[in-house]
Amino acid sequence: MNDYVKVNEVGPRDGLQSQGKTLAIDERLRMIEVLVACGIPAIEAGSFVSPKAVPQMAGTGELFARLPLREQVDYSALVPNLRGYELAREAGVGAVAVVLSATETMNQRNINMSLAQTVEVCAGLMARARADGLEARAYVAVAFECPFEGLTPPAVVQELTRRMLGAGAGKVIVADTIGAANPAAVQRVLEPLDDLCAAGALSCHFHDTRGMALANVLAALQCGVREFDSSIGGLGGCPFSPGATGNLATEDLVLMLDAMGYRTGIDPLALVPAVRAVQALTGGSLGGHAFRWLERQWNKREEVAHA
Ligand code: COA
Ligand code: ZN
Repeated sequence: MNDYVKVNEVGPRDGLQSQGKTLAIDERLRMIEVLVACGIPAIEAGSFVSPKAVPQMAGTGELFARLPLREQVDYSALVPNLRGYELAREAGVGAVAVVLSATETMNQRNINMSLAQTVEVCAGLMARARADGLEARAYVAVAFECPFEGLTPPAVVQELTRRMLGAGAGKVIVADTIGAANPAAVQRVLEPLDDLCAAGALSCHFHDTRGMALANVLAALQCGVREFDSSIGGLGGCPFSPGATGNLATEDLVLMLDAMGYRTGIDPLALVPAVRAVQALTGGSLGGHAFRWLERQWNKREEVAHA
């Protein structure tokens, strides 16, 4: 069994972009420092998008210049278009992720382009990033269901995935943007891509809106996927889906993987103070399904350490 699973923390981007409170650069950096201290190997630190569209992500260039442990952590940034790519490159970003949605309406709402245009732009950016020596990734968003067009046909996701890999993407992230997937749907999308799963070309991004994110992770693991996005404390939510409860919580993901014998390099208990710190920064109530249990274990360990 290939037992290493890479956890890519997206709280500083996907989590913060939908918060009512906009954090200062120093606060975003503090959050990232806390995550790095947990041993998280990869972090999507921000996005280069219009500050009018997403004010929470303004100043990502400055943030990148000040990131801790740049040699050890795989930092990446989301870029929606050529302008974003250029800003990311100027800021010295080493890995960029483009985003294309599997439906027409979602592309229009998110980045104001048609699906066909988005595919062209993203393919161009993948090639450009490769030529510039940057790592290139592509999100296929609303890969299971679109809030505007309903269920997404798996064949569309599969085609877009192969297209982006063909264009030079090092990885495609199959994203359940609104948390509407279920394990059977995950299997339907991923099984025909088993060659890509085995080759490590795919990652999955689940939201926990309907409480099925961990079950979806299990289905993806069984299909051979060994990389997942998650967000500390489940921070997040989707601006397009009222009532969405946020991303898969990093502590839930790490605890399940750890219990199943997978290696992540992250101590699940170390995530307890991280959740608390991010809660203090964002002002919202955070914590995945396992958080209360983890807190009790962490408290016990602290008592023993200080006895
Ligand atoms: N970063 C910063 N500014 C950008 C930009 C980027 N990547 N792309 C465009 N802009 C600026 C332009 O310079 C222009 O500025 P101005 O009004 O001062 O002249 C303005 O934004 C409009 O540019 P335009 O190319 O017409 O963009 P648009 O209005 O069609 O918006 C996006 C397109 C992609 C910039 C915008 O929809 C966006 O940022 N969306 C973010 C989506 C997102 O983050 N979703 C969540 C993650 S999936
Ligand atoms: Zn998301």
